[in-house]
Amino acid sequence: MANIVLIGFMGSGKSTIGAALAQRMGRFVIDTDLLIESSTGQSVAEIFAHRGEQGFRALESKAIAWLSANVCNAIIATGGGMPIFNDIRPLGEIYYLQSDFETITARLDSAQRAKRPLFSDETKARELYEARAKVYAKVAQHTIDANAQIPQILTAILAHFDAKHPA
Ligand code: S3P
Repeated sequence: MANIVLIGFMGSGKSTIGAALAQRMGRFVIDTDLLIESSTGQSVAEIFAHRGEQGFRALESKAIAWLSANVCNAIIATGGGMPIFNDIRPLGEIYYLQSDFETITARLDSAQRAKRPLFSDETKARELYEARAKVYAKVAQHTIDANAQIPQILTAILAHFDAKHPA
C-alpha cells in the first residue's frame, strides 16, 4: 500500500493528524522533521543555524530519497517546506491539510514558534503562507479542510481514502 503523505503549512496539524491517523489505521507514522533531527543529532533550529536553510533542504531531499526507496504502508508527516523545495510525489498519496493562517497563529504558541526558524516573524510567515498555498494545492491529490477539530479532519481524510481505495 502507498504511503499517506500529509503536507501543509507550519502548524496545519500534520504531526498531530499523522499520529491520530496512524492509530486509527494501524499504520506507523514518520515525521520527517523528527527523522532528520534524530539522524543528525541536531534540532531543526540548530540545522538552520549551522548549515543554513539550504543545508536543511538538502537533508529533506535525502530523506525523500530514502523514504521513497524503503518505506511503504506508512503515514508520512512532512515539514512545511518539503513540497516547495523538492518533488515529493515519489513518497505516496498526497493529502494537503489546508488551514487558514488565523487557525495556524492560534495553534502555535511561543514555544512552538521558537522551534520554527521561518515562523519567527509573523508578517514574513504570512507572506510565505500566501506564496505557498497554491503549490500545496497543486501537488496534492486531496485537499482537506484542516480548520476543524481533529476527529472531523480524520473523518475527512478517511472518506477521501476510502473513496480512492474501495474495500
Ligand atoms: C518548515 C517547516 C517546519 C520545519 C522547518 C521548515 C517550512 O516543519 O521543517 O522549520 O519551511 O515550512 P513544520 O511544518 O512541521 O512546522
